[in-house]
Amino acid sequence: MTGYIYLLAVIGFLCVLLFLFENLWPILQAVRAVLAPWFIPNEETSLVKKFGPWALVTGSTDGIGKAYSFELAKRGVNVVLVSRNEDRLRNTAKQIESRFTVKTKIIAADFSLGLEAIRKVKEEVAKLPIDILVNNVGKMYEYPAYLCEVSEQDIADIITINTIAATLMTRAFLQGMKERKRGAVVNVSSGSEHQPVPFVTVYSATKAYMKSFSNALRYEYQKYGITVQHLAPLFVDTKMNAFSENIQNDRIFVVTPGQYARYAVATLGKMDETSGHWVHGLQTFFIKLAPWWLRMGIGAKFFKKARHDYLLKKIKPGRESNSTEATKTE
Ligand SMILES: NC(=O)c1ccc[n+]([C@@H]2O[C@H](COP(=O)([O-])OP(=O)(O)OC[C@H]3O[C@@H](n4cnc5c(N)ncnc54)[C@H](OP(=O)(O)O)[C@@H]3O)[C@@H](O)[C@H]2O)c1
Repeated sequence: MTGYIYLLAVIGFLCVLLFLFENLWPILQAVRAVLAPWFIPNEETSLVKKFGPWALVTGSTDGIGKAYSFELAKRGVNVVLVSRNEDRLRNTAKQIESRFTVKTKIIAADFSLGLEAIRKVKEEVAKLPIDILVNNVGKMYEYPAYLCEVSEQDIADIITINTIAATLMTRAFLQGMKERKRGAVVNVSSGSEHQPVPFVTVYSATKAYMKSFSNALRYEYQKYGITVQHLAPLFVDTKMNAFSENIQNDRIFVVTPGQYARYAVATLGKMDETSGHWVHGLQTFFIKLAPWWLRMGIGAKFFKKARHDYLLKKIKPGRESNSTEATKTE
């Protein structure tokens, strides 16, 4: 009997150890990244020297993608900007070139078209070695909703943009990186990958796909000198969250795209998997201490409330939450 109790205690101890290791690993990696200049002074810190001179960022005229492109340019990396709107692309390129001594190239492509967009991008950068690929573009629901309320087109676009486009863009540029024996693929996922999230069900499922994709891809390609970094941000103040004033007004848990990108780019080549910003890292650590079903329940409540508030506002703009009106939006 004592033997069984001893065995159970050892198994329990190992489980706790594994659980702590998994949750503390990103923190240990962050500590290593901060201390590296003292302990590993020869470690290459220049992105251009480490990966190469050209990056391609998808979804780069707004939000995280735009800020990320600026951060890369600040570090001397030339940037290919890809989004749908030509004027906004030209504007962003102009802003970058006026502030930093780098080159830019713009490509107007709509990733909801899947393979057609990828072929266009590939053709237009055929002569450029893309050393850092940032799969940033993503589509969320217009507002949190039940599956049958989301249009078929929106569901197809969310899956195509968030998973198919990122996968095929990666495939398009990996071979070149492999031949050059260096390069980085940065996949911008979301904290919604950590558990299913009702009311943004399809969006969170696409991000869970990206987590699996990044981890398996890293295993396949790290032996060729290629870095696969996976970013899982929580809320960033961009137009993707326009459905919720609470998110947009939160200055404690929500960071600006500029703040996010500054930290995220600093982790490139140093952390394989990170939320991308220390504020999000702390939140993720505490969130992941809870079991997935509890996190899912809390997420569901949060997005149901956001949906309720959004619909109320749509019914009566400028009017405060009112429980009678609210029930109509259930
Ligand atoms: N914001 C957050 O709170 C948050 C949290 C977690 C994860 N993320 C992830 O972070 C990434 C960036 O999000 P964000 O909030 O920065 O987005 P955002 O502010 O909405 O910016 C989206 C960018 O992508 C471009 N774009 C949109 N649809 C496109 C399409 N079909 N084809 C090509 N380009 C397109 C937009 O430009 P055009 O409209 O001109 O094409 C714009 O430059 C996404 O993958 C998102 O899932 C965001």
